[in-house]
Amino acid sequence: MEIFKTQKELKKHLSSLPDKTIGFVPTMGALHRGHLSLLIRAKVECELVICSIFVNPTQFNDKKDFENYPILIDEDIKQLKSIGCDILYLPENVEDVYLNERDLNVDLGILDKVMEGINRPGHFNGVMRVVKLLFDIVSPTKAYFGLKDYQQYLIIKTMTQQLNLTIEVIGCDIIREADGLAMSSRNLLLTFQQRQVATTLIKTLQYCKDHINEAPIEALERRCLAMMTQYGEPEYFVIRRADNLEKVTPDYTGEVRAFVVCKIGKVRLIDNLQVR
Ligand code: PAF
Repeated sequence: MEIFKTQKELKKHLSSLPDKTIGFVPTMGALHRGHLSLLIRAKVECELVICSIFVNPTQFNDKKDFENYPILIDEDIKQLKSIGCDILYLPENVEDVYLNERDLNVDLGILDKVMEGINRPGHFNGVMRVVKLLFDIVSPTKAYFGLKDYQQYLIIKTMTQQLNLTIEVIGCDIIREADGLAMSSRNLLLTFQQRQVATTLIKTLQYCKDHINEAPIEALERRCLAMMTQYGEPEYFVIRRADNLEKVTPDYTGEVRAFVVCKIGKVRLIDNLQVR
C-alpha cells in the first residue's frame, strides 16, 4: 500500500494511472469492520482502492468531541494492508485538504434541516465541504458510505447529483456486532457497562419495526423515545421516509426508516433501521 501525505503527490501518482476505475472510501480513521466492509466491496468492484484518513475539524460542532476522537493510525494502516487497499491518503495537515476550496452551491432542501441537522449545527456543511474536496483530489469512479450515517449518505448523494459529478455514490449496509450494536469508532469510548447498555438502540429500533403497522407513527416515536430514556439520554427517535427524510404521511407506501440518537454516558451513539 502506498501512503501519500500531500494531495500534490497523490494527484501526480494518480495521473500516471489513467483509465483505472477507482473505488474510494473516505474515513476519519479508527477503522472497524464497518469500514473494512466498504473497502472490500470497493476492492471487488474497482481496479484501484483508495482510502483517506482525515479527522475533519469543520464537521465537529463540539470541540470536545473533536479532541476525543480516537486516533489509531498504526492499527489502521495494518488493517488497510491486510485487506489489500492500494493507496492511503493521510494528509499531513488540514491545509493540505482545504488547499483549493471553492464555494459550494447546493440546495439540500430539508435534508440538512432535520435530525442531525438540528442537533449538530454546521455538521453537514463540514461533511459536504470535505467530501467535495476529497472527491476533487481522488476523482473516484465509485465512493462508498455506510448507511449508519444515513442522512450523510443522502446529503452526499444529493450534492453529487446537483454538482453533476460523475461519481457513483454507493450506500452500504450497516455492519453490526453479534449483539446488534452498530459498528462505530465511538464504541471504543464506551466502558464495559455502557457497552452492554448500548444495545438499547438496536433493540428499540427492532421494537419499532415490529410495531410499525400497529400504532400511529407519532405515538410509536414517543413510545420508543420513552423506552430509551430508561437507559440513556436519547436526543431523538424519529420515523421518516427513506428517500427524503420527510414525515411519513398515511398515503405514503414507500420505504420507511427509524432513526435514533442516544447518549450513553458521554458517548453519542447513532443508529437507524429500515422499519417498513
Ligand atoms: O463518515 C465519516 O467518517 C465522515 O463524515 C467522512 C465521510 C469521512 C467525512 O469526513
